[in-house]
Amino acid sequence: MTLRVGLTYNLKRKVEDDGLPEDFYAEFDDESTVNAIASALRKGGCRVIKIEADEDAYAKLRRYRPDIVFNIAEGLRGESRESHIPAMLEMLGIPYTGSNPATLAICLDKAMTHKVLSACGIPSPKFQVFKRPGEELSGELNFPLVVKPLLEGSSKGIRSSSLVKDEESLRRQVSWVIKTYRQPAIVEEFMPGREFTVGLIGNEEPVVLPIVEICLERLPSGASPIYSYEAKWVWDTPENPLEIFECPAKIPGDLKREIEEIAIKTFKVLNCRDVCRIDMRLDSEGVPRVLEVNPLPGLIPDPKAHSCLPEAARAAGFTYDELICTILWQALKRYGLQGLFKGKHLVKIP
Ligand SMILES: Nc1ncnc2c1ncn2[C@@H]1O[C@H](COP(=O)(O)OP(=O)(O)O)[C@@H](O)[C@H]1O
Ligand SMILES: [Mg+2]
Repeated sequence: MTLRVGLTYNLKRKVEDDGLPEDFYAEFDDESTVNAIASALRKGGCRVIKIEADEDAYAKLRRYRPDIVFNIAEGLRGESRESHIPAMLEMLGIPYTGSNPATLAICLDKAMTHKVLSACGIPSPKFQVFKRPGEELSGELNFPLVVKPLLEGSSKGIRSSSLVKDEESLRRQVSWVIKTYRQPAIVEEFMPGREFTVGLIGNEEPVVLPIVEICLERLPSGASPIYSYEAKWVWDTPENPLEIFECPAKIPGDLKREIEEIAIKTFKVLNCRDVCRIDMRLDSEGVPRVLEVNPLPGLIPDPKAHSCLPEAARAAGFTYDELICTILWQALKRYGLQGLFKGKHLVKIP
């Protein structure tokens, strides 16, 4: 019997509507990523059914009823958009890779994530949510601050100007975020130390992949030391790569262990499944604080595109096909469906 795997995704489109910001589709995937995942799954002996996660997704899933879905859909719209496909799959009783609707919805909301983490003793930056531009800044927060849209990823709405050092630029940036992205802004204390991102694969005892350092001192001079939209998508292109990653990060053993421990604890507290990537930065005391949690991490196959999780997997000796099949395998194992998979030679974490 051949395992029938549905592949759910949202495709990047060109921004044509003048009312939309240029980074509107930043979180969606290119066809090349969808095709690379499909090809990896086929090499693992699966039959792949591509299902674009549009408004007809439910009908398609119901009609095709795959044995399992490999989900990378970021969701069309709304504040729980990443949960939509998993919620439909749950309703239809179809297994799927990755986290459940609750985890995806919490992690998309950066303030909610901080609240859950701090309730569980995991350090994250002090923050305040602004629903309106004129709200008073809490006396608990000290400049410099970072202003971000509350419910985005891929550095959408995060520019060099998002690092603000005074009240006037804070107001300007908060107004811009609220107006452009039609959602609240989260304002956080700026963590001035080194930045790391940590990939994990698995479930009960997730395996931590080699830590990636984002070397912000390699940004063009004059840029704010943040991994902004410009840094991810404008100054770094496959044609003209900006070598900003160091993987494995060159760090002392005790810091490495501390980062790994925080990553595993964060993964467990938020009930992440199969795969996740956690962004962290050191505060002024050198303590790692969790900036955000990505239960649907980017999976761009081209090494020149600098996609963090594939980069970490490569450093661990995985090919791209092995990364994809290993993620699928973790989900199959959770559902007790391992027996159906013919690509065990591509599984790197049993
Ligand atoms: N509180 C903060 N302190 C320091 N840098 C930050 C902070 N918040 C965000 N950044 C910078 O902005 C980048 C993007 O922010 P992040 O919260 O990871 O959003 P996204 O979901 O868009 O990746 C981070 O990689 C980091 O460089
Ligand atoms: Mg991030």
